[in-house]
Amino acid sequence: MTEHIQQKHNGLILELIINRPDKKNAISLAMYTALSAALTKADSDPNVRCVVLHGVGDSFTSGNDLADFASADLSSSNNPVVTFLQTFTAFSKPVIVAVQGDVIGVGTTLLLHADLVYAGSDSAFSLPFVKLGLCPEYASSMLLTRLAGYVKAFEWLILGEPFSASEAHRVGIVNAVVADPLAEALAQAEALTRLPPSAVRESKALMKQVDAPLVAKTMATELGVFKAALGGAEFAEAVSAFFEKRPANYSNIEGSK
Ligand code: COA
Repeated sequence: MTEHIQQKHNGLILELIINRPDKKNAISLAMYTALSAALTKADSDPNVRCVVLHGVGDSFTSGNDLADFASADLSSSNNPVVTFLQTFTAFSKPVIVAVQGDVIGVGTTLLLHADLVYAGSDSAFSLPFVKLGLCPEYASSMLLTRLAGYVKAFEWLILGEPFSASEAHRVGIVNAVVADPLAEALAQAEALTRLPPSAVRESKALMKQVDAPLVAKTMATELGVFKAALGGAEFAEAVSAFFEKRPANYSNIEGSK
């Protein structure tokens, strides 16, 4: 466990709290492992009927911890990032996510797999994968394109243009833009805990199973491209530029097609 992921049992609700505000809640490998462990335990715990995921401070998350990520071995079958993505997708009970401030990278793509999402009006969503020399992940190349339409998804996934809470609401990434997203998420979680639990789980499974094979196939294809890119010069330059607080320069990158 890491102190950057906290768990709070709140009746039949489990709150999973990303608590690393000094790094804008960037998610390290240890944090992915802690999130996966908490979800796996919650899935078989009859005292958990619903999970609410949220972040402490002014941001939901700035996405993958870039320092950690540069050293991640995604080819390993038990890689913490891939394990988390699969565990979150396979989780059988409802997951509600409350977001505010920066909602970057996996912070946004995981919303495409959540059951309910509430956003503060200050939320700023962005998917800077291509700017980092990487590619879309977590089936976002398919799920976001389907939700937003190809040309809007291209702006967000390839140009990396940020988008607002109202735009996220318009395309159906978030249920509502509210003043207090955590309060709204907890209220909806309470409502879910009053419903018959098996009926909720079985119905979620029915809604998810239609897309599950395509989601799994898309994730596997994206991962192949992503892994290759992680070892490439474009990602290395992007990470150096970020930590050196300078713009990235790709003009001298060898091997551009
Ligand atoms: N990985 C590692 N560290 C990160 C991080 C990340 N994804 N995001 C922020 N941090 C760290 C910064 O390095 C900084 O650390 P320092 O105080 O030791 O210098 C601290 O968090 C605060 O970030 P800072 O950039 O100073 O805050 P800001 O308000 O100016 O900008 C962000 C906030 C989130 C817009 C900016 O930090 C950012 O763009 N982060 C990277 C986002 C990203 O590319 N994520 C990967 C997606 S795959």
